[in-house]
Amino acid sequence: MKYIVFSISGNKKLAKEVARSLNAELGLVQKKCFADGEIMVKSKSDVKGKDVIIIQSTSKNVNDELFGLLLLLDSAKRSGARSIKLFMPYFAYSRQERVSWTNEPVSCEVVARMIDSADFNNLTCFDLHHPVIETFFKHSIENKPTTSLFAQYYLSYFKDNNISLKDVVVVSPDHGSNSRADMLSKALKNIDIVILDKVRPQPNSAEHLEIDGKLVKDKVCILIDDIIDTGGTIASASKLLLKKGAKSVLVGGTHPVFSKGCVSRIKRSGVTDLVVTNTIEKKLNPSIKVLDILPLILDEIK
Ligand code: R5P
Repeated sequence: MKYIVFSISGNKKLAKEVARSLNAELGLVQKKCFADGEIMVKSKSDVKGKDVIIIQSTSKNVNDELFGLLLLLDSAKRSGARSIKLFMPYFAYSRQERVSWTNEPVSCEVVARMIDSADFNNLTCFDLHHPVIETFFKHSIENKPTTSLFAQYYLSYFKDNNISLKDVVVVSPDHGSNSRADMLSKALKNIDIVILDKVRPQPNSAEHLEIDGKLVKDKVCILIDDIIDTGGTIASASKLLLKKGAKSVLVGGTHPVFSKGCVSRIKRSGVTDLVVTNTIEKKLNPSIKVLDILPLILDEIK
């Protein structure tokens, strides 16, 4: 294979590491913004006859990134790429995967169809918000779990902190994260799972219903979620767990969207440890640990 690896904006470090690991070329991208607001994104490198890998989350200027990605896919195909593997480590709009209120669009399906209309070979995402998203695509799509990274992290955390697995429970902050919690529990020798009931009184705010304190009293709770955005879900869940007597709350979230105020909101809620992955590249406070999805990407390529 003659790989060339691109990222437009979202995952430049990751793209560099993938290229280095494959001993492949790092592709150059040219971006232009026109006076009327239109953009142009193209490959500046020669892709003819090459196997193109594009790694692009949509997380910062979401709509521009999405459209830029469509343009880069078109540029690569028209310029003679032999194959195109697309990685979208974080898939924006994934939380709008159903109609919750009258007249709402299923925005996630709209985005999926747009991407599906491009010419590429396969798509890989990580911890997609909901499995139904896979059905929005006609292209082959791999929804890779990051459970192995979190399990490895927590096993070494417990070893370093003298914590026995019998004192640990996995907590799902809402019913949407049940299967994630279940996978993590299995990877940690089937430790118990506690599922919380979350309500959203208004957009961007989260509250949890009371639970039986016996479930978490004196336990180390691993609160596991896919997306951490405002931090409201984690903060509310953490406060509840600590109020019910949990010994400590460790938070694992795959996608650090981290909107303004998120990290301080989480810190104020009493969380002891916060670990995320690099599906979204961010400058983070060194107290936040970042797990590298590079091995999962390489696994998918080889
Ligand atoms: C919701 O269903 C997701 O799984 C996350 O719990 C949610 O997106 C987190 O958002 P926030 O951090 O704003 O509460």
